[in-house]
Amino acid sequence: MTETNTPFGMTITATDGNARTGVIQTCRGEIRTPAFMPVGTAATVKTLKPETVRETGADILLGNTYHLMLRPTAERINRLGGLHKFMNWQRPILTDSGGFQVMSLAKLRKITEEGVAFQSHIDGKKHMLTPERSMEIQRLLGSNIVMAFDECTPFPATEKETEKSMMMSMRWAKRSYDAFHDGSEHAEKNALFGIVQGGVYEHLRRHSVEALKEIDCEGYAVGGLAVGEGQEVMFEVLDYTMPMMLKNKPRYLMGVGKPDDIVGAVERGIDMFDCVMPSRSGRTGQAFTRRGTLNMKNARHVDDPRPIDEDCGCSACTNYSRAYISHLFRCGEVLGLMLLTEHNLTYYQDLMAGLRGAIAAEKLQIFIKDFHEKRANGDV
Ligand code: GUN
Ligand code: ZN
Repeated sequence: MTETNTPFGMTITATDGNARTGVIQTCRGEIRTPAFMPVGTAATVKTLKPETVRETGADILLGNTYHLMLRPTAERINRLGGLHKFMNWQRPILTDSGGFQVMSLAKLRKITEEGVAFQSHIDGKKHMLTPERSMEIQRLLGSNIVMAFDECTPFPATEKETEKSMMMSMRWAKRSYDAFHDGSEHAEKNALFGIVQGGVYEHLRRHSVEALKEIDCEGYAVGGLAVGEGQEVMFEVLDYTMPMMLKNKPRYLMGVGKPDDIVGAVERGIDMFDCVMPSRSGRTGQAFTRRGTLNMKNARHVDDPRPIDEDCGCSACTNYSRAYISHLFRCGEVLGLMLLTEHNLTYYQDLMAGLRGAIAAEKLQIFIKDFHEKRANGDV
């Protein structure tokens, strides 16, 4: 899929309650929604070739401004023809704007109205990220969905702190919009998403949504969640925030989540997700299955000839046993990480496909009941 002139847009093909299914059109091809985006932080989904990532069912990857600006730099990727060519992934790429990663990774951060000054976690070198610089980096990378520069309000935060942080993110969103559209051809083909902040305070979420509606973005993300508030509170925030949002534009819940978080968020009207969980837990030995999670390092797998998940069609489950994969983990073999990452990403993509099919058939509640029952059985 090379670049076309297809304008960015979303078509909702079916709804079931508050849930929706459809496609997002981009100049790099279609994204089926609800969609899960594997995380490709350093221009790679760790341990997998892009061909394999595609085989798991992914339509779009997530990349990170923060990591790529430090190494190998956005300018170098641009000189080499952009991120798609650099990493050999020709389909859509969404890039996060950097603010969130700066706060969790960089050293000696200083936030001002201008932006965030910080030292690289790699070599201590000083950098500055502003809305304008973040937009420039995401353009140099050739991102198809550019995220506005924001501050992810930490949790817990008082109402006053949350308001101050959200108000600055809204000013940064306006500066992001102006910089994104600043005379570049890139903005004509690609999309800018605003990020709703406001923590766990309904009136602040409302203010944020209204501020972003003034700035005409092509999609909206919900940020500042999955930061320690717990699933119940996160669902509560979604319950009141979703009805405030425009119906005809994509809605992206950032950094979420566990399979049951995704199911609950889809039920509440979210279209897009990203999370390191399936790729990171592949590296710790955690395997997701339809009947619950397994730890492949556990001794009980060493003689088990069954695949990780009997209902999974991925190449790890078709060709290899729990015994073999647990052996690879015990020996610290790289292939163990590869097989488990491939399986976990396939599990997530199968879950999304199942949700899409259930919404299209108006059988989402039956799907959700079955999803929870299989897991509760405990017979994994
Ligand atoms: N990833 C997870 N949460 C957030 C957020 O609030 N903002 C950004 N930019 N990225 C995130
Ligand atoms: Zn599998």
